[in-house]
Amino acid sequence: MKNKDSILNGLIIYNSKYGATRQYAEWLAQALKIPLIRSGETTAAQVTNADFLLIGTPVYMGKFRMLKWIRKNMKNIRNKKLFFFIVNATAPGELAKRDKFVLDNLPGEIRAKSSIYFLPGRLIHKKLTLFDRLMVAIGVRIEKNPEKRKAMRSDLDAVKKDNLTPLINSVNDFYYRGQLLSSTSVATHG
Ligand SMILES: Cc1cc2nc3c(=O)[nH]c(=O)nc-3n(C[C@H](O)[C@H](O)[C@H](O)COP(=O)(O)O)c2cc1C
Repeated sequence: MKNKDSILNGLIIYNSKYGATRQYAEWLAQALKIPLIRSGETTAAQVTNADFLLIGTPVYMGKFRMLKWIRKNMKNIRNKKLFFFIVNATAPGELAKRDKFVLDNLPGEIRAKSSIYFLPGRLIHKKLTLFDRLMVAIGVRIEKNPEKRKAMRSDLDAVKKDNLTPLINSVNDFYYRGQLLSSTSVATHG
C-alpha cells in the first residue's frame, strides 16, 4: 500500500493562444517539478493517473479557452483536486467580472471544490490576428467606462513569475498535507 499511495501525482494542463498561459505553465512546472501538457495532447490515461491537476486557461470574450476540454474530461476530473489558473485582463478589484467568468465556465460540481487563481496576462495589440483586433475593437466600443476603454486600447504586459507565489504555496500545502496524511496512515496501520 504505502509506496504508491503515498505519492501524489500532479499534472499541469494548459492552453494558450499568444503564450502568456504557456509561460505561467512552464514556470509552474519548474517550481513544482510536475509535468505539463497542452490540452490538445492529453490522453485519458494521463488524466486518470493524476491525483491533482493544475488547469491553465486564458479568457477570450468571457470564455475559457479550456472550456471544451473541461467539459469533455468532466468524468475524469470531477473527483480530483483541481487548481485553476485563469489568465486574463481584469484588474484585481474587478471581482464581479471574475465571478462571472467562473460561474459561466466552470460546471457547479467542480466549482466549489476547486482552488481558483486569477493571473494577469499579456495583450500586445500589434501581435494580434486581424480577427482578434476586431474583437478587441468591438469590446472597446461596448465598454462604458472611459478609463477601462483607455486601458483596453493600450498594451498589457503583466506576466511575471512572482504572480504565481500564492498558487505555488497553495499547491505545496496541499501536497505536503497529503504526504503527511498518507505517511501517518501507513504508521498507524503498519
Ligand atoms: C480577442 C481577445 C479577447 C479577450 N477577451 C478577454 C475577456 O473577455 N476578458 C479578459 O479578462 N481578458 C480578455 N482578453 C485578454 C486575454 O485573456 C489575455 O491577453 C491573455 O493573456 C491571453 O492569454 P494567452 O497568451 O495564453 O492566449 C482578450 C484578449 C483578446 C486578444
